[in-house]
Formats: sequence, structure tokens, C-alpha cells
Amino acid sequence: MSTATSAAQLIERPATATVLIVDDEDSTRSLCRDVVSDAGLRTRTAATTEQALEILDQAPVDIVITDLRVPQIGGIGLIKKIREMYPQTAVMVLTQYGTIESAVEATRMGAADYITKPFHIPELRSKLDRMVRTFEVDNENRVLRETLRSRPGFAGLIGVSAKMQKVYKLIEKVSQHAYPVLILGESGTGKELVARSIHFSGVRRVKPFVPVDCSALVPTLIEAELFGHVKGAFTGAVHTKQGLMETAETGTLFLDEIGELPTDLQAKLLRAIQEKEIRPVGGTDRVAVASRVIAATNRDLEAMIQKGSFRQDLYFRLNVVQIKLPPLRERKTDIPILVNAFLEKRSAESGRPYQFSEAAMAQILTYDWPGNVRELENAVERATALNSGPVLDLADLPSNVAYTMNQRVPMPDEIMPLEELEKRAILHALHEASGDKLEAAKLLKIGKTTLYRKLKQYDAQKNRLSRQAAGAN
Ligand SMILES: Nc1ncnc2c1ncn2[C@@H]1O[C@H](COP(=O)(O)OP(=O)(O)OP(=O)(O)O)[C@@H](O)[C@H]1O
Ligand SMILES: [Mg+2]
Repeated sequence: MSTATSAAQLIERPATATVLIVDDEDSTRSLCRDVVSDAGLRTRTAATTEQALEILDQAPVDIVITDLRVPQIGGIGLIKKIREMYPQTAVMVLTQYGTIESAVEATRMGAADYITKPFHIPELRSKLDRMVRTFEVDNENRVLRETLRSRPGFAGLIGVSAKMQKVYKLIEKVSQHAYPVLILGESGTGKELVARSIHFSGVRRVKPFVPVDCSALVPTLIEAELFGHVKGAFTGAVHTKQGLMETAETGTLFLDEIGELPTDLQAKLLRAIQEKEIRPVGGTDRVAVASRVIAATNRDLEAMIQKGSFRQDLYFRLNVVQIKLPPLRERKTDIPILVNAFLEKRSAESGRPYQFSEAAMAQILTYDWPGNVRELENAVERATALNSGPVLDLADLPSNVAYTMNQRVPMPDEIMPLEELEKRAILHALHEASGDKLEAAKLLKIGKTTLYRKLKQYDAQKNRLSRQAAGAN
């Protein structure tokens, strides 16, 4: 049996803690910085709380060491903000000699520890050590918590990468308003999920969310679907039917695959959005509509405008705020979290625990996922369907995922290093044997211990490479 690893272990987080030092005195800042970097930790420094908050906003900080008398909002104000916005960041305060009450107040506000100025370096070092140990212990738990946290209002969106954090911020912002949003991104990046999160995080959540797939209907039907029709408007219109724009009330109309909308309908849609009125097909009366419009597409609308297949005025109208979803290959650090979430979902359904082997996980991190999250989710589902677990192996992954280009078996006239040739032969045999190592060893006419040893070696290599790749994200 191969060694299994939890997906969370593979998450690329900095191995060392990042410490932010906030003090307006240059001398204290540089003294603290020396102590912190001597301890092998990453340091950031700020002279004001404003600078500190900027740094906190840019990248995760694990520990903040702050003076209490620091401009502008003071140490206590900073602790409050940190507790509110970055609850996982631990704070140590620096207090002046003789102001123990403020230290008490700071601890009451959530500071983990304090140290009185002037302090001795060994004292700072030992307090820092303690905080770092707590950080290290917390680290894995924290990753797991992040994984499991059901984001209220985010309708199941998973991912903690900086790129996704940006998306969450935008969602939060736009959910409080009614202006149109255009969501762009490759297929399977989560456009519909984002549209739902915008709707369900805002005040409209109690109103309908109405998706319309503009690519799924023939043009005449889209018009009738969107605007409704009166009885007898066309063959088959036996009843008067309300249009989806009206059904959405003051909720959200989600126009999916907007790039597929025929141009004559683009004009009608533009008019409806602008005038907040529609005319049902075959009808004469106008009906008021008030829904918010969110549109999504994986097409390049600007290129379509150039070619004349998408109306520029509609584009301007829809593109008030644009949310661009990153392809999964640009946020590989989120892959282990997604994998974990999908495995847990499958576990909940089947009642069995699942885990990917190290080699499988490493390959999942190496592959580029052109079909993005959808493709990843399908691959996880497939693996759990093929293998009853608990350990899912390389052979349980779709073959295009398990064997990227440089792993295929070479052509007969291809020359490559013997070691590489051997590796490919072994991986190929393993695939042919559906992951059965004994069988693979037989196919290769080698002993099973030799096969195990080689696989272990590849595992180590692969993990190293994929960690580097994910770290580059
Ligand atoms: N960030 C994410 N967290 C969790 N699941 C996600 C995420 N992004 C996408 N998914 C899942 O991936 C699948 C595809 O997502 P969705 O349908 O929203 O993609 P899409 O961008 O609309 O794709 P398409 O362009 O093909 O319609 C869904 O099952 C969705 O739940
Ligand atoms: Mg979609």
C-alpha cells in the first residue's frame, strides 16, 4: 500500500511565520526585526497603524508585534481591527514600563501576550518562540478549518488563494448593490457559482434567482422565455406565460452564456434593461421589470464586438462591474483544498473515507486542468467511483491527468535517458495493471520490492516538483 497524505499537508503555506512589527520608534523596530529574523522568521515593519493595515491587507501575517502608542489608531485600535478582519493573526503588544493597565486592556481585547519596554532580547525571543510554536500547531488545523468552513453567503465557493480572495471581496461589494455584473472566465471556473453567491449574499437573497442559459434555447424561444408571451402569440402558445425577467421580480436574472445571444435579441435585451420595461411576445402592453442583471460568458466579448457579433452598447451596459475568474492552473494552491472538499462530499454520500496517495496528489497538482474546477471535481468523483478507498491512486485518475505529455511511453525511435525510460515503463505498467503493483511488477518482470523502491523514489521527486510549482503561484 502506498503512503497516503492528507490533501491539507500539501497546501503550500509558508513554512515559517510572518511577523509584522508596528512601532513608530526606528530603534525598537530594528531591534525587533533583528530578533525576529534571527529566529528564522519573515519580517515586515510599519511605523503607523495605517501602514500596518495596508500590509495586513496585502498578504497573510501570522504574528503582529505592536507598540500601544502608535499613530494613528493606536495599538488597541489595531488589535480591534485585527480581531475583526484577521482573526487568525496573533498579537503581542509592547507596553511602556508602568502602564500595566493598558497591557491588561490589550489582552482583554485579544492580544496573546505582552512585553514591557525596555525589554531584554532573550525575553522577547522566548515570548516569540512560544507564539511561533502555537502558530505551527495551529497551522495545519487552520488549513483544515479553512477547508471546511462553509462560507456563509458564498454559496459553496472554495479557495483561499489571493486571486480568489479578490473575487470574494468583489462579490461582497457588488452584492450590496443592484448594478449589472459581468462574470468572465474559462469553462468550469465557477461563473454560475459566483453569480449565485452575489445573489445570495445580498438583500435580494429572499427574492428569486433566475438563471437563463442563452445558448440552450432557439432564438424565438429565448425571447418568449425572457419577456413572456400572450396566448396565441405563436404556435404552441396555448397560455399566456410570464417572462423570466418578470419572474425574477426584484431578484436576480442570471444571463448565462450571454455571448451566444443572437444580435436582434441583444438589442431587445438592452432596451429592456435600460427602460426597465418589457413587451411580452404577441402582446401590446408593457410590463415593468426590476430585476438585477448578472451576465456570464467564456467568450471574448471584446473580440466579438470587433467582429460585429456582439453589440457594444449592450456590453457597456452589462460590464458595469467585471469579475474575472482565474483559471485553476493560476491558483494551484487551492487544488488541495478543492480536492479535500470534493472527497469529503463523496465520503458523506458513500460513508467511506477517501484520500489520494502522494503520487496521485502530486500528479493532480502537476496537471493543468483546462476544464478547471469542473474537470477536477469530475476526476475526484471518477476516482471514488472506481476505487472504494480509502487510498485513491494514480491509476484511478483519468489517463490524461495521470500521464502528462512527458510521461507517455516513448515512440520506438525516440532516445531518452535510460532512467527516464525506466520510469515511464513502470508508470505505464502500473496504469495497465489498474494500479495493482504486484501485477505491474509481473508485467515488467521485476521483483515487487524493486517496484516499490522505484515508486517511492518517484513520489519523492514528484512531491518536490509539485511543491515548487504550487509555491510559484
Ligand atoms: N471555487 C469553487 N469552489 C467550489 N466549487 C466550484 C468552484 N468553482 C467551480 N466549482 C464547481 O465546478 C463546477 C463548475 O462551476 P460553474 O458551473 O459555476 O462553472 P462555469 O464557469 O459556469 O462553467 P461553464 O462556462 O462551463 O458554464 C460546479 O460543479 C461548481 O460547483
Ligand atoms: Mg456556467
